[in-house]
Amino acid sequence: MKMTPLNTFVAASLCATLFTGGPAAAGKVVIAHRGASGYLPEHSLPGKAAAHAMGADYIEQDLVMTRDDRIIVLHDLYLDRVTNVAEVFPDRRRPDGHYYAIDFDLAEIKRLRLMEAFKREGDTLLAISPVRFPPGRSVFRISTLEEELELIQGMNHSTGRVVGIYTEIKAPWFHRQEGKDLSRAALTVLKQYGYTRREDPLYLQSFDPQELKRLRTELLPAMGLDLKLVQLIAETRWGLTMVIEDGRTVPYDYEWMKRPEAMAKIAAYADGIGPWFNMLVRPDSAPGKIEVTGMVEAAHAAGLEVHPYTFRSDPGQVPAYATDFEDLLDIFLFKVGVDGVFTDYPDRAVRFLNKHPQGR
Ligand code: G3P
Ligand code: CA
Repeated sequence: MKMTPLNTFVAASLCATLFTGGPAAAGKVVIAHRGASGYLPEHSLPGKAAAHAMGADYIEQDLVMTRDDRIIVLHDLYLDRVTNVAEVFPDRRRPDGHYYAIDFDLAEIKRLRLMEAFKREGDTLLAISPVRFPPGRSVFRISTLEEELELIQGMNHSTGRVVGIYTEIKAPWFHRQEGKDLSRAALTVLKQYGYTRREDPLYLQSFDPQELKRLRTELLPAMGLDLKLVQLIAETRWGLTMVIEDGRTVPYDYEWMKRPEAMAKIAAYADGIGPWFNMLVRPDSAPGKIEVTGMVEAAHAAGLEVHPYTFRSDPGQVPAYATDFEDLLDIFLFKVGVDGVFTDYPDRAVRFLNKHPQGR
């Protein structure tokens, strides 16, 4: 690889990470879920910069491909929940009503305004969460993976604090169906930006166990890479991973991952798990009487880190068994014993950990 000033800086930052231990060695970690998305539109660069400044240990990127094979940072496979695509390209929706990113070139996507998630009532954009950044205000754009890495690495340089990345390969089955190999394309960019070894400040996550096994046994070794992998665990009914069974496309069945013996199987190809937090504490637990499922204990016994998603303080998002958002963090980080949390409010999680005697 040609050594540009940026590459030289990246190499230096990663050496510094090794020297200091980096975010993963600092104890429990705060992962900014889609950025500081409680305050700024998810996956906007300002939201990522805010998360960095708030002290997050890792910043998350969900990855999706464009028609012209670029990787963009976007949670959904489609553009319509968080952009004005329906106004700019009204004729480009699929029969299911969605405007898929994979049907657009990057230059077209760059014309769209990225905004806080909204629903439309006539000409009015209504915020899905009334306490978040107002949809349609100011100007945000969808960024490429490269643009986001340059922002995070640039801030690592200017602040002297190494913040890691937590990158998700979104729906590899869908990309494959569309003729694209998202994992291979993502690894190419990550390698170019200096993420090559297990010690580097990166977790690579996916809900798709087959893809993680492919990464571990084929793609990573073939590209001379050795990265930390995280198995995300979904409810089967969400339909996040689809597989073909008896000629029919059906949701992948995640039930086996909820059994204690699953953890040793996952540990054969991954370094951690990312479960929905309701898989760790029964949602109908009573205040002061938390019922823990045993997944964390089993995962730790298998040597896996545990980073549940997603901790939010918006109205209705804190379960009844917790008194408030900080109590929820306390329950998961210090009673259930997880190793880190995905949160839309990284400032509050960082503050909570910094104040806690066992936090940092
Ligand atoms: O990737 C962990 C967390 O982000 C959960 O999933 O749906 O928000 O990408 P999602
Ligand atoms: Ca994600």
